[in-house]
Amino acid sequence: MESMKRKILFTKEIIEKRVEELAETISRDYEGGELFVIGILKGAFVFMADLIRRLSIPCFIEFVKLASYGAGSVSSGKIVMTKDIETSIEGKDVLITEDIVDTGLTLSFLVNQFRERNPRSVKVCALLDKRQRREVPFEADYVGFTIEDGFVVGYGIDFNEKFRYLPEIYIIEE
Ligand code: IMP
Ligand code: MG
Repeated sequence: MESMKRKILFTKEIIEKRVEELAETISRDYEGGELFVIGILKGAFVFMADLIRRLSIPCFIEFVKLASYGAGSVSSGKIVMTKDIETSIEGKDVLITEDIVDTGLTLSFLVNQFRERNPRSVKVCALLDKRQRREVPFEADYVGFTIEDGFVVGYGIDFNEKFRYLPEIYIIEE
């Protein structure tokens, strides 16, 4: 599988520039406040690490891990939280960071879960958005890049746990 063909989609430089822009926008939107940044493990960890270091507002870091029943790389609809955050978000501004919005099932589940905890606000920042594949209506508040259908890896994003370490984002070629 290491020999699987892949083509570069976004270089380090392009990712860095876009993350910088996202951080500037987010810092402006929350100016004067502080942010609870919640990453979805594992895919978001590289993106989140880069994003928070570009923010010019104070932030706190938490992680959740989700499992979706059903096999493979596609969400089946039945989602459970296998690791929750370790602090209350009541009255806080929450920003969920995710690698990819695909069907929208994962993020609509998580946003609904967090809304029940009475935060001041909940927004979503996704590095990649595959808009054409939505199964439920979902709009991220901040999006790095909108992409066509196709399987991507690198920059934290995996194929069967492989390729997360790559600094660029690649598209797998059939
Ligand atoms: P969904 O929006 O609930 O369908 O789930 C999105 C999740 O599916 C992402 O967090 C990824 O874990 C996974 N996913 C979707 N597309 C890809 C891809 O191209 N490469 C790797 N993982 C993907
Ligand atoms: Mg994921």
